[in-house]
Order: sequence, then structure tokens, then C-alpha cells
Amino acid sequence: MRAAVIDPTRQSLDVVELPDPTPGPGELLVEVRAAGLNRADLAVRAGGYVVGTSRNAATSAAAAPAIAGAELAGEVVAVGRDVTGWQVGDAVMAQGRGYAELAVVDAALALHKPVSLSWEEAGGLPVALLTMHDALATNGRWQEGDTVAVHAATSGVGVIGMQLALHLGAPLVFGISRTPTKWPALRAALGAGSADPEAHAQTQQTPGASQGLLGRQGPADRVVLVEAGELAERSAALTADRGIDVIIDNVGAAVLEDSLAAAAIRGRIVQVGRLGGRNGHLDLDELARKRVSLIGVTFRTRTRAERLAVVEAARRDLGTALEAGALRPVVHRVYPLVEALAAQDDLARNDHVGKLVLRP
Ligand SMILES: NC(=O)c1ccc[n+]([C@@H]2O[C@H](COP(=O)([O-])OP(=O)(O)OC[C@H]3O[C@@H](n4cnc5c(N)ncnc54)[C@H](OP(=O)(O)O)[C@@H]3O)[C@@H](O)[C@H]2O)c1
Repeated sequence: MRAAVIDPTRQSLDVVELPDPTPGPGELLVEVRAAGLNRADLAVRAGGYVVGTSRNAATSAAAAPAIAGAELAGEVVAVGRDVTGWQVGDAVMAQGRGYAELAVVDAALALHKPVSLSWEEAGGLPVALLTMHDALATNGRWQEGDTVAVHAATSGVGVIGMQLALHLGAPLVFGISRTPTKWPALRAALGAGSADPEAHAQTQQTPGASQGLLGRQGPADRVVLVEAGELAERSAALTADRGIDVIIDNVGAAVLEDSLAAAAIRGRIVQVGRLGGRNGHLDLDELARKRVSLIGVTFRTRTRAERLAVVEAARRDLGTALEAGALRPVVHRVYPLVEALAAQDDLARNDHVGKLVLRP
């Protein structure tokens, strides 16, 4: 099979011929139809992706050449021993090394591909779906009536985080982005029309607009897009100074102070990504005064049992929404496998909304 292999010592990504893999016990062999790119793919190529619980173990693991990728969708072509619930011909989506014509995935952690999604959409969904559901529902402890904010709302994970918050029924969903030219595409992905967010927000700032939040219905009424750095100010105006209950932080240091200032009493800030740096300034007195929880999440140190819990929670809560296509990545651009390196370079340029996807 052909696969794109990373060698972190050279920071290279080369498409090479490799022997076809075979599925072990509990595994599926998948003919990959589409594989999403993720920001972490760039860190893996650069050799800076820390895996495992010890930083020393992490360094050696990160330095070994390996097939790139973190997610895929495709057709099951072989089933390993002791696998139940899957058969040859099934359409599957899962986390796994997807920059290849064939991939082996853990059957218990795989999801059935929703019929309503294209291969490209399904290939770009698993990481964002599992990350955002775990961040918002499990770690963010979202409950009915809670407002939500998503930093880097145009990112691959951000779009799904916004869709998920809307699907759950959050009365206000703030999306933070540095690039307003991307907002029409984001609003379209959220089914929120192409309304001018400024004009939209101003109508919400009229007296009494912050009352009756639960009465809001459509996405256009509930989505507020905000420029980076303005979350605290804008959310205070729209929530009668109450603040935001769950903040999904895909950016890190650059937004930490704004997030804490925007958080409601007993709010939760779930730290997912460090696009904007890892060393930020935190006012601990403000954290304590508001009784805010700051929660870090990653798949890198999760045991298999913990990963299984994440997948099962998403299956339980979102099965119907997935089949209905309520959670659907925006596919910004599709590349052939041989252009994997160019696709990663495009990801680093930050011109996209949603997902870049490879077709092996
Ligand atoms: N913890 C986990 O389990 C987990 C899982 C998946 C992803 N992540 C993390 O989540 C983050 C997003 O991942 P992704 O693959 O969805 O990213 P992505 O699609 O490449 O998103 C990049 C976008 O983020 C926005 N952004 C905001 N501040 C930025 C900054 N300082 N530098 C660069 N971009 C910035 C930009 O959009 P605007 O131009 O609109 O601002 C940019 O286009 C990454 O940090 C990733 O590592 C964590």
C-alpha cells in the first residue's frame, strides 16, 4: 500500500510503498476513503508531539518514523479475531493513522459512518467529534440553559464544537475568531445564515434582550461571532453580566485572560488546544472568586479504557444527531495522498474554515 510517512528527525512527510497491514485481535483493516488533517499532525512531523505520561518516553515515541494522521473513514476489508459488531463491507470512521491506503483501527473504538455524510465529511469528523463532545458534555459538564463559547471557532474542532453546542440547545453560542472574512462560511456551516454578526449582536443588546435566553430557537438567534480579545466585553453585554458557563479553549495562552474575564460564576474553561501559546497569565484570585474550573484534556495520556468511555459517551449522546447529519464538518479542501505535504502546509497557513481532507 501507499502511505505518507513522517520522519520527525528530518521533519519530512514522504509517500512511500509499505507492506499491507493485517488486523490483529480486536482490530479492523480499513480501506481508507478519506482522512482528515489535524493540527497535531504538524506537531508530530516537527517531532514536538508529546505522547504518553512521561516526557522521556514521549520524546523517543515522537522521534520514530510512522504513518501520519489521526482520523479516517473507509470500508472494512478484513476483520480480526474476537471482533463483534463489524463485518467486511461496513462503512467505518475512527481515530487512526489515516494518511494511507489501508489502516488498522481498534474495532471497539470505531464508529459506524453515518449514511448522511460523504466519505470526506466522515473522514474529517472523529477527532473533532470526540474531542468536542468530551470537552463540552463530559469535562465541561454542559447542562440545559448553559451558554457556551468556542475559541478558534473556524478550526476543524471549533466548527464541530459550535454545531454540538447548538445541537444540545445552548441558548447562546459564542464563536471567537481572528478573521472576520471567514465568518460567512462559518455561519453557513452552523445553519445560521449569513447575517452580519455586528448587526445581529446589536439587536441582542437591546434592553431585555438578555432575558429569556432559553426562548431562543434557530441558530441565527443563538450564534454570536466575536473577534479575538472581545469575548468578555461582548458576552457581558449579551448575558446581563452573568458571563459564559462553558468555554472551550482551542487557543490557550493568547485567550486565557479574556476567557477568565468572560466566565460565569462556577463556569468551566476546558483547555483543548495551544494554538496561541502554552504559557499564559492567570489571575488566581479571579479564578477563586468566580469558582471557575480550568480543565485540561488530551487523548495523549488516556488509557484505552478512557478512550472507550469517550467513544461510548459520544455514541450514546449523539447517535441520532450523527445519522441526521446535525454534526457535519465543513470540508474546506480535498487533496490526493501524494499532496499530503502541501495539504499540511496549507493547514499551517490558517486560511481554512473547517477541515482539510486527504483522499488516498
Ligand atoms: N486536546 C485534544 O484532545 C485535542 C484534539 C483535537 C485538537 N486539539 C487542538 O485544538 C486546536 C485546533 O485544532 P484543529 O486541528 O481544529 O486546528 P485548525 O483547523 O488548524 O485551526 C486553526 C485555526 O485556529 C484559529 N487560531 C486562533 N488563534 C490562533 C493562533 N494563535 N495561531 C493559529 N491559529 C489560530 C485560526 O482561525 P481564525 O483565523 O478564525 O482565528 C486558524 O485558522 C489545536 O491546538 C489542536 O492541537 C486538541
